[in-house]
This record gives sequence, structure tokens and C-alpha cells, in this order.
Amino acid sequence: MSASDSTHKLWGGRFAGGPSPILDAINRSIGVDLRLWPHDIRLSKAWALALGEAGVVSREEADALRAGLDRVGARLAAGVTPLATDEDVHTLVDRLLHEEAGPVASRLHTGRSRNDQVATASRLWVIDACRRLDAAVRELQQALLTQAEGLADALLPAYTHLQRAQPVSGAHWLLAHFWPLERDRQRLAHAAQGASVLPLGSGAIAGSAFPVSRVLLKEELGFAALSPNSIDATGDRDFVADTLYACAMAAVHGSRLAEDLIIYGSGEFGFVRFGDGFSTGSSMMPQKRNPDVFELARGAGARVLGDLVSLLGTIKGLPSGYSKDLQDDKRALFNAVDLLLLALPAMAGAVAELRFNRDRMRAAVSSAMMATDLADYLVRRGATFREAHGAVGTLVRQAEEAGIEMDRLPTEAFAAAHPLFGPDARDALGAEASLAFREIPGGTGPQAVQVQLAQARARLAPAEPAAGNVPPSP
Ligand code: ARG
Repeated sequence: MSASDSTHKLWGGRFAGGPSPILDAINRSIGVDLRLWPHDIRLSKAWALALGEAGVVSREEADALRAGLDRVGARLAAGVTPLATDEDVHTLVDRLLHEEAGPVASRLHTGRSRNDQVATASRLWVIDACRRLDAAVRELQQALLTQAEGLADALLPAYTHLQRAQPVSGAHWLLAHFWPLERDRQRLAHAAQGASVLPLGSGAIAGSAFPVSRVLLKEELGFAALSPNSIDATGDRDFVADTLYACAMAAVHGSRLAEDLIIYGSGEFGFVRFGDGFSTGSSMMPQKRNPDVFELARGAGARVLGDLVSLLGTIKGLPSGYSKDLQDDKRALFNAVDLLLLALPAMAGAVAELRFNRDRMRAAVSSAMMATDLADYLVRRGATFREAHGAVGTLVRQAEEAGIEMDRLPTEAFAAAHPLFGPDARDALGAEASLAFREIPGGTGPQAVQVQLAQARARLAPAEPAAGNVPPSP
């Protein structure tokens, strides 16, 4: 086919008739994959170089191809609108290269296929996306950490079964949302690492028949390794699944943080107030201050989970090698990454604006929440925990029946509940005392929390580069 054909296609010679318009419609992916163009240009330039080095094209032709690809990149960066006939990003780049470089453009596709091309471009995109996601997760972690620093000595109930359980430091609670995000960053780094295996040179399925140096390609594109099997390389989308899993987990963690804040921001709890920049009002109820950001972030979780499930469904049961089903990988991948890159910064902004009400937090701590501490008191005096649990349970019931806090029960009640209760028993019902006992590493004791804050700060200190060596996306 020639550059002057009205519809630029990378295939078609073997067909007598043209494709049905409805085939074009279902087959076309340019609307989804256009954003791969910087990576397609980059890998195409590397391919032209490798073709030149291998003597498959002359040095002059390789140079002309590379210079032409630069001009195509400049046009795309300036915002070329694809034609309705551009099937996918690879076809578009090829068409523009014909316009920029002339007939030599027809040599570029020697020994390669869109199968190894799209796998390579997608991997480059994933490596870059993991880096951007890492930065967005860090930003949310930073917002949590900054808030946590101010809440180290604030107390609030920690909940199990959403029932008040034991008092904890405000920083301890907030950092409970920091560490899952840290694990998300590890998952993202792992996904970027898994993506850093070069498929280019695999051709359509059997490997390129031209002696291009895959090592040269790997070095040029900054991949960590070469794929060892061309069939696997063209049909493998594990790197997309890994990325989507990392995204899904980050979205799940965001949704749990969102849920805590939505509950704690309700009038009944009143622990936290949402800032103006990230609250919405109601069209009907003038008093409303709604935490839409957190609700939307919670909702985004469902959509990202859907993307992971959709991708897994796509690859399950596919025969080895490339099948066109795989074109759908990008729809799921881009949707999930786009969503997270919206939801994470929105949450970070909203977290930074939170104003905590320490009095409300503290007031929600009742003395019954120190029942375990009271049992521990008896244990320290020689009782077994089971015996102590029973004795304190009696006191809990008595306080409940009398409608008073446990520390208001008369001294005789303590003495009657267990002979080992001394005059200082009530001290065990203090919230601060409860925290002070929990200096165990990872506990909510004041020193342990300071250690934890330092650990969290350290995690955010160095900017670790993700695997690969990819320029940022436009
Ligand atoms: N647009 C295709 C995709 O994203 C490119 C690969 C096409 N390969 C093929 N044999 N038709 O998967």
C-alpha cells in the first residue's frame, strides 16, 4: 500500500473487498490507545536504530526514519486529530510518518508486528503510570502524616465491629491508613518491575526474522530484561493485571479511609469537619456540608475493582499468543489509572483540609472502654485473665444498670467484684493510662506513636525512582 491511499491501513492486501464499516467500528481503538503515542514513537525510533545497526536498512534510512518520527512526535504533541480511518495509534503514527518521511516510512515495519509493538508501548506506559501513581499515593500519605503529627496526643475511640473498643492516639488511627498506602506503593513498584521486560523483537508470535539486537533495544528503551519467549511475550498481559491489582488495592484502601472520615464527620460523631475547598452543599438543605470527595473516592473503588475483574476475564482462557481480545486491556488499564489519578489527589486535598475536633474525639472515650485495662490491672496483681475478665464484666454490667461511668462505681463494688482490687483500681480506668501501657512496638503508647511517626516520615523521605527509564507522559 502507498502513502497516497485514502485510507491508510497496515493490512488489507490479501482482501479483495474492503472491510465492512461495522468491522471498522468495532475494530478501531484509536479513541482509547491514542495516548500511547509517545511510547510508540520512542520504541519505533529504537526499532529504526536497531534495523540500521543490523544493516536491514541503511544508516541514512534509519536516520531519516528517526528524524521523521521526531517530527511525527512534535505534531502529535501539538495535537493532531486522528482521522476516522486511523485504526489505532500504530496506524496513525505510521500514516504520519509517511507524510513526514516519505516512502522510506514503509521500511519501518520490517520484522516487527503490532503485537510486539503494542505490548512494548503498553509496558512503557505502565512503567510511567506506576511512577505517577506512586507520586499520587505519596501525596495522600503526606497529607495523612501531616495531620497525624498534629494528633499525636489527641485521643479517640478505636472501633472493632464499629463498636467503641479502646482509646488510641489520633495519630495512631490516621497512620492506620498510611501503612496500607505504603504497601500499595510496594505493589506499584513490583508492577513496574514486572513491566520492565522487553517484548520488542518477538514479531507477531515467532520472533523477528531479522537480526536486530534486542539488547540494543532494551538499552535504548531502559528495560531491565528481554522476554525469553516470543509467544508468551506477545500474549502476556500479567503486567496489566499486576498494575490493576495494585490500583484496586489502592482504591480499596482509599475507600476505607473515606468511610472512616465520612462516619467521623457525621453530626453524631463530630470528630472531624470537612474543609470548604472539598465540601459540597445541598440544592435543598442549606445547612448541608457534604463529604462528596470521600464518597466519590469510595465509589471509584468499585470502578477500579471492575477494571481488574474485566481484565482478568479478558485473559482467562485465551489461547497462547495474541488475540484481539487483548486490545481491551488498555480500556481497563487507562480507566483505572485515570480514576486513581483523580481520586488520590482529591483525597489528599480533602485530608489536608480536615479540621479535627479533639474535644469531641476525647468525649467519645468512655470508661467502659478501659475495661480491658482494668482486667489487666487484676492480672498484674496475680489474677488469671479469665477470672479478671469475669470480675470486670460484673462491674461493666453494674455501671450499665446504674447508668453511670465505670469509674463512678463505689469502692465496695470493686472490692466485691474481686479481692485483688485495691484503692488505685480506678486509675486503671484512665484513658491516658491505657495508652501509656501500650508502648509495645506498633502499639498506641505515646513513645511508640512517636517511633511510628518517625518511621512514616522516613518512608516519605527518599524519592525512589520506579523501574525503567521512561520520560513522563505529556
Ligand atoms: N490495536 C491493537 C491492540 O491494541 C494492536 C495490535 C493489533 N494486532 C493485530 N494482530 N491486529 O491490541
